[in-house]
Amino acid sequence: MVAVDLNGKALASQIRSEIAADVTAFSASTGVVPTLAAVLVGDDPGSQVYVRNKQRACQEAGISSILHRLPAETSEAELLNLIARLNADTQVHGILVQTPLPAHVDSARVLDAVAPLKDVDAFHPENVGLLVQGRPRFLPCTPHGIQQMLHRHGIAVSGRHVVVVGRSDIVGKPMANLFMQRTSPLGPEAANATVTVCHSRTVGLPEITRQADILVAAIGVPRFVSAAMVQPGATVIDVGISRTADGLVGDVDYAAVKQVAAHITPVPGGVGPMTVAMLLGNTLQAARIQCPAAA
Ligand code: GUN
Repeated sequence: MVAVDLNGKALASQIRSEIAADVTAFSASTGVVPTLAAVLVGDDPGSQVYVRNKQRACQEAGISSILHRLPAETSEAELLNLIARLNADTQVHGILVQTPLPAHVDSARVLDAVAPLKDVDAFHPENVGLLVQGRPRFLPCTPHGIQQMLHRHGIAVSGRHVVVVGRSDIVGKPMANLFMQRTSPLGPEAANATVTVCHSRTVGLPEITRQADILVAAIGVPRFVSAAMVQPGATVIDVGISRTADGLVGDVDYAAVKQVAAHITPVPGGVGPMTVAMLLGNTLQAARIQCPAAA
């Protein structure tokens, strides 16, 4: 079997057009332009690319985006001060603090300072709690992008075994949570999975990943998932993106796993563009929540 690619670039472009139409209607009826404030600290090359992509996507969708670029030496107090100002600014609906932050900054303290109603990344404990309880305010961007991708390719999740490799706060944990819920904004077929979460201390990892109908790799180790770790006919979602001498590489050995799986996401052009599209949706959602005229 040779797997079919799940093309995130094309799908994200379609979703961004749908969001752009929703933004146009929202702005016409309320007079409000949804606005995202992005905070980028330091000059990590990966983060710069992400933030640039997010800004460009905002502009194309009719969302205003304001970049706050700060030097790597910015103190935690200065960062908290900026976030307090953005929280109080009624013209700003969404706040994105690009991670990773420099080591001298307490990331949790900074991310917790973002007003929950402006937390378009869904990182704030209040928004994480709402997701866990099955009543999300914002859906976490990468996990939601994966859920959309499966749904729009007609790949049901309900009753199937999803194995998530990786337990990060940004991908692994919220991914497991989304898929284990009773339902989702896309209906019950996009949720209700049996979910297993594996990580660096998991014993017998290949035996577990081979049981996956849907395997989500979010470990951050280039080409970690080999063909021997994949059940023939599985759907393989690659969240990793590492810069190597061969260019950008995912967490999955793409060429080998493509010979075994039924569906696979390429890197780049798979999950990444979906994350950006979901961020736009959350920014519109944040503007709706904060704009009384939209209710
Ligand atoms: N760093 C890696 N992914 C993300 C993301 O989705 N949002 C933010 N804010 N930082 C990230």
